[in-house]
Amino acid sequence: MGTKNSRIAGFYQLTPEQRLQAVQAFDGLHQAEVEVLRGGRGVLSVERADKMIENVIGTFELPLGIATNFQINGEDKLIPMAVEEPSIVAGASFAAKLARAGGGFRTSSTRSLMIGQVQLVNVPDVDAARTAILSHKAEILATANAQSTALVKLGGGAEDVEVHFFPSSPTGPLLIVHLVVDCLDAMGANAINSMAEAVAPLLERLTRGRAYLRILSNLSDRRLAKAVAVLTPEALARPDMSGEAVIEGMLHAYAFAAVDPYRATTHNKGILNGIDPVLIATGQDWRAVEAGAHAYAARSGRYTSLSRWYRDEQGNLVGELEMPLAVGIVGGATKVHPAAQAALKLLGVTSARQLAEICVAAGLASNIAAMRALATEGIQQGHMALHARQIAMSVGATGQLVDLIAEQMVRERTIKPARAAELLRELTNVFV
Ligand code: MEV
Repeated sequence: MGTKNSRIAGFYQLTPEQRLQAVQAFDGLHQAEVEVLRGGRGVLSVERADKMIENVIGTFELPLGIATNFQINGEDKLIPMAVEEPSIVAGASFAAKLARAGGGFRTSSTRSLMIGQVQLVNVPDVDAARTAILSHKAEILATANAQSTALVKLGGGAEDVEVHFFPSSPTGPLLIVHLVVDCLDAMGANAINSMAEAVAPLLERLTRGRAYLRILSNLSDRRLAKAVAVLTPEALARPDMSGEAVIEGMLHAYAFAAVDPYRATTHNKGILNGIDPVLIATGQDWRAVEAGAHAYAARSGRYTSLSRWYRDEQGNLVGELEMPLAVGIVGGATKVHPAAQAALKLLGVTSARQLAEICVAAGLASNIAAMRALATEGIQQGHMALHARQIAMSVGATGQLVDLIAEQMVRERTIKPARAAELLRELTNVFV
């Protein structure tokens, strides 16, 4: 059990500067890391950005929030989330508080196995090709591993070769070779792509076919992370609704997502609401995780919910989320972006698997928040207050005027830029 406490009372009522101090106190971050997390003032310099992507003209900022209350495998965590959408950080923090009452999130993960694919066409004899590939497995693996000696030295690298055959495709039969690679703490895209390109000429010789595509698969279904949370009826109870009634509603919400792909897509978007912001804050390839998540949700042939919910024998609501999570803590933007490094430091992760487990816990938390709101008062009530603040700011309100205008619009149930502008004019006259 850790000694840190992520349950920081009234965190949301503090100023951004006070919150930053609380975060520093939580983890003993160095002043330089605190400065980086504060953002602005060219934390990611244009010079550095220019080396990251092409045609750079500047950098782009997002709000960075901290989700509180998380307890993961008995350890308290403050979770950095970079995201533009209101309610996500508050929802995840609230759900983490509910889960805490049932022991917090229990997480686990598989090894970091990824697949690199080589497409072979015009293979004259498929059976002979398959036999040739499998009998030269050691040579194929050695060729692949010569591309990434660092990974191999650390105990990872290519470890298996598989052959798949598609007898018909729009261009005829396809032989697809999979290289199974343990990426350890790297996301692995670069290593896998280099390996796939390196083994392609050897595979052409062995199969007498022609290699075309040589690329990783983002369906990283052998690199899974899992989170489980137990929600007690007491934790879920509301002034107007018993915990049992909330559980009933949440189970109906899950049932809807389990059977209907239209609903499952939105349900899974709610899960990714918790995951993408952590990926962005820590410099990950969030498109890869998104692609893998949705493909995994359709693995049975029908797109369905990524999470699973049921009532246990004690009457608690149990949620489980298992999904592919290809993340890395070495290489890529994690090393180049100063804020990503500070975010990883705050999370205290020392392996890619730990980061994946934090992400999946954040995803389950977002799922809890959305399902609970949807099964009770609906999401608009909580969302509107935050949305109203954005509308107030969009018409030029600053300081305390933002909250005054937002509160008035929520009271009036009219959250529109025109009304915000009107209120801004009225209130500006009062305050000057
Ligand atoms: C909004 O960003 C996410 C939700 O639509 C998720 C869901 O419907 O479960 C609230």
